[in-house]
Amino acid sequence: MLTEKEKLDTLTHLVIELNQVSDLDILMEHILTQARRFVNADAGSIYIVDKDTLQFTYTQNDTLQKRLQEGEKLIYSTFSLPINEQSIAGYVAATGSPLNLPDVYRLEPTRPYKFGKEFDEKSNYTTRSVLTIPLKSANADLLGILQIINAQDAESRAIPFSEKDEKMMMHFASIAAVALERAQMTRAIILRMIKMAELRDPKETGAHVNRVGGFAVEIYEKWALKRNLTPKIIDKNRDVLRMAAMLHDVGKVAISDIILKKPGRFNNDEFEIMKQHTVLGAQLFLGRQSDFDDAASLVALNHHERWDGKGYPGHVDVLTGDPLNGHSSPTGKPIGKKEDEIPLFGRIVALADVYDALSSVRTYKEAWDESEVLATIEKEAGQHFDPELVEIFFSCLDVIRSIQRRYSNNM
Ligand code: C2E
Ligand code: SIN
Ligand code: SIN
Ligand code: SIN
Ligand code: FE
Ligand code: FE
Repeated sequence: MLTEKEKLDTLTHLVIELNQVSDLDILMEHILTQARRFVNADAGSIYIVDKDTLQFTYTQNDTLQKRLQEGEKLIYSTFSLPINEQSIAGYVAATGSPLNLPDVYRLEPTRPYKFGKEFDEKSNYTTRSVLTIPLKSANADLLGILQIINAQDAESRAIPFSEKDEKMMMHFASIAAVALERAQMTRAIILRMIKMAELRDPKETGAHVNRVGGFAVEIYEKWALKRNLTPKIIDKNRDVLRMAAMLHDVGKVAISDIILKKPGRFNNDEFEIMKQHTVLGAQLFLGRQSDFDDAASLVALNHHERWDGKGYPGHVDVLTGDPLNGHSSPTGKPIGKKEDEIPLFGRIVALADVYDALSSVRTYKEAWDESEVLATIEKEAGQHFDPELVEIFFSCLDVIRSIQRRYSNNM
């Protein structure tokens, strides 16, 4: 448990820490982890406002986590609640005031809201104390709800949240909300960039890039844990990779609609033009202003390289697209990068992108059955894909599927 002094120190550092995170999902994870640490709570959730509803978007639960194998993740389903006084979270959203309930199984019958027992029943968990706080932007718009569950005493027994906890969480929530609003804007800008370019069916694009970003960070995290990288480095890289992965195909903005939206298969010339989307995308981020620009450039450039060296664009000068010295074939074409010559983020996004492309409908193909997709991924280990990453992919297939469900339609 944190001492009062540590709590104050943490609060002052929080502004800096939360503002370094640019990705929305990773930010929600930080917010919950820190909020729970403050008040020594077992579990918590974040709901995000979406029109007239609250979308249950993120949750943590130490008790349920302990029932899983090492490295496994909690799989949860997203659902939505109407913003009205009938649920606890809905009540806090509707009234804009926090609610500190010592035991949700003993609510006064005169209260307008009821506790939804479905989650407890499904997961065999007992929720007791629940502290629910609105997340409001600087100009008082409601962004979401922070819900912290089961404060614990030193023996891990559930106890009510104190009034002090409540005050601390209100302050925390105001800091978190600013970071949350900024991360939502960043994601909205990325999605708008992609939509404006009308890369594909605008109904599908947002979901595709969100899925590829989600798969990529999942694979990266497992890869990094195997190598005992520190949580700080892993977090930083996940944040950068997620946005870079979302922008992997941004170079398609420079490809004509006639090619981009062709209803059938490409001929050779058309495919050669399409291949330029890698170099064109990499050029957009050449300014080298930040880790993010570097990662976005690298992912755009390398996401169609293949482990066996038969991918594209190969060893090229990003500025011109021409082969690098000593890296052209007898026909004058660039030689493909192979194995570790391909940067890790490129190898990861290659796998995430093809998995998603095969699983989805395209203007030029039907969606494949999962069994066919998985058989192809497996067969391509060591050919198209880094075999270690394929192994990691299969070891976290449950999480991959849950990301797929979460972003099954437009965001
Ligand atoms: P995408 O649709 O996002 O597909 C990404 C990658 O997934 C493809 O990279 C390819 O490696 C794999 N993939 C997707 N569908 C299939 C499939 O039916 N069979 C196989 N074997 N692999 C598949 P690739 O081939 O380098 O293509 C890059 C992008 O070019 C594609 O992105 C898509 O936007 C476009 N494209 C490729 N081929 C065609 C085509 O024949 N017609 C049209 N209209 N677009 C195409
Ligand atoms: C609610 O806030 O009412 C929903 C919380 C839950 O079902 O656990
Ligand atoms: C994460 O970013 O923590 C996982 C990906 C997701 O759930 O979207
Ligand atoms: C791939 O290259 O990733 C897919 C090839 C195949 O469908 O066999
Ligand atoms: Fe691509
Ligand atoms: Fe793609």
